[in-house]
Amino acid sequence: MCGIVAASAGRDVVDILMSGLHSLEYRGYDSAGIVVVADGVLRTVKAEGKLERLRQKLEEVSLDGTFGLGHTRWATHGVPSERNAHPMVDSRQRVALIHNGIIENFLDIKRRLLDEGWSFTSDTDTEVIANLISSFLDDESADLVAAVRRAVSELEGMYAIAVVSTVGPEEEIVVSRHGPPLVIGLGEGEQFLASDPTALLAHTKRVVFLDDGEVARIRAGSVELWNAAGESIERQAEILDWDPVQAEKGGYRHFMLKEIHEQPQAVQDTFAGRVDFEERRVGFDSMRLADEVVERLERIQILACGTSWHAGLVGKFVLEELTGIPVEVDYGSEYRYRDPIVGPETLALGISQSGETADTVSAIRAARDEGAPVVSICNVLGSQITRLSDGVIYTHAGPEIGVASTKAFTTQLVAIYLLALWLRQQSGRPVERGLLDQLAHLPAAVDQAVRSEERCESLAREYFRAENFLYLGRGLNYPIALEGALKLKEISYIHAEGYPAGEMKHGPIALIDPDLPVVAVATGERVYDKVVSNMQEVKARDGVVIALTDRDPEDLEGVADEVLSVPRVSELLQPIVNVVPLQLLAYFIGVRRGCDVDQPRNLAKSVTVE
Ligand code: M6R
Repeated sequence: MCGIVAASAGRDVVDILMSGLHSLEYRGYDSAGIVVVADGVLRTVKAEGKLERLRQKLEEVSLDGTFGLGHTRWATHGVPSERNAHPMVDSRQRVALIHNGIIENFLDIKRRLLDEGWSFTSDTDTEVIANLISSFLDDESADLVAAVRRAVSELEGMYAIAVVSTVGPEEEIVVSRHGPPLVIGLGEGEQFLASDPTALLAHTKRVVFLDDGEVARIRAGSVELWNAAGESIERQAEILDWDPVQAEKGGYRHFMLKEIHEQPQAVQDTFAGRVDFEERRVGFDSMRLADEVVERLERIQILACGTSWHAGLVGKFVLEELTGIPVEVDYGSEYRYRDPIVGPETLALGISQSGETADTVSAIRAARDEGAPVVSICNVLGSQITRLSDGVIYTHAGPEIGVASTKAFTTQLVAIYLLALWLRQQSGRPVERGLLDQLAHLPAAVDQAVRSEERCESLAREYFRAENFLYLGRGLNYPIALEGALKLKEISYIHAEGYPAGEMKHGPIALIDPDLPVVAVATGERVYDKVVSNMQEVKARDGVVIALTDRDPEDLEGVADEVLSVPRVSELLQPIVNVVPLQLLAYFIGVRRGCDVDQPRNLAKSVTVE
């Protein structure tokens, strides 16, 4: 939800800013822009649309400077246009600012600034912050840190901002956040800033994450931090364990396809080192839940959004079965506005790839405020939800760049399984050998599922013209049906619904006709026969069935028009295998329809606004 980069390097930073924006473009691609300060003047270049447009513009101008800012926008206030692109410059041309978030009281501040003689050229809330900061800078003692601190104390809403000015005595970038993420990359005599560590990997792995309310001043040779109370603070740098190569396409046509292929390894990396197969024990480095907290748990509330919420739905089955603790699954965006019943006996389990999704973060905060212990499953070291957690299970998926979540989902499911085993073990119940052995077979099974690529491509060829799809599943496969449908709609713009197969007869069966492909997920034992009956109901109404199954395709003759085969693993792990061909099917349909599968329209990877 908007990407922010900045650099103060003592050398030309335009290429640094552009390569940072390239890494962050998945966060928004409505417009992009950069600013550098050269000879005491703010020089901005902006373009509507994707970063490529900005790149083309930069070829026509000569721009260089040793410190500056870059921004890629996901529009909130004001249409996508060059006029509304960041950086925003104040009306006295002395402050340039980039912003991620939403300022709720911007109209009040704008009215006041208009009365004071400030003018505005955009429809954004961001321009208000630029003018506000400038209004607190006086030309004689131009303390940018003080001006920023004063300005943010007036802001209501969410923001991550970075500011440069022409007024100060030295090259400096002042940054602050409340809500959306900011991470500072520490180099040798050069410092960087980004919304997400992936944009820093090319320069450094030493990073400092900013907490809410903090302000930092970044200069080529130093980084200073202040807490929300204005006290100077020190923070130990963290070392990123991501490889810069992981953040490149590595020969694949799209990040999404690469990330689908990375799943066997990512799944393995997520349980590696956490399971002692000999001793039948599970453990995590960053789990700080005391035994007495675990003992008093009466239920678990899972809080998540989007694909991570689907992981939570699978998690409900897995956790209830392995721990006997009742589990509720909530959307982050619903939870905090409905007075949830939560307290120290409830484990709040946050699931988020980015760790920065505003709705999930707010829900976790709400649960925590009521005394709930918090565990998070997250892919990004040091991100917000990890900082609110008593225990973190990192998914070792590596950077996920494609906007459509793939490897984050499958590794979240592995992490949930590990958490369930751990809770079972901590409550004194045995972790049977079979539960662990199945895990050991999982990477090979996921690899086999990835090999369904050709079959998925040929199915895509057959069905990519459909305007609607229905996905059906029961039990553990119901969330997989939801996830299959979500993947298809977000990257191919085909209307797709996921439904519990047994519910079809209560309404959606009216939709069935020969133009509506129905993808039915039919694996395992428990409800297999029931799903086959539901497929029969579709066939009886001239519907088209694409069955995803772990059975012999011949078993489904006459019931399914197409069969997508997956290997069988234990029932609780089967969703991890089943989702892979659905990701591939969505991918190939999206590509056939000419869609931008890595950066689908209207979406952003990290949704840091509510
Ligand atoms: O980073 P998070 O896991 O918290 O993100 C949650 C959703 O925004 C995300 O899963 C979204 O639904 C993806 N685009 C799905 O592919």
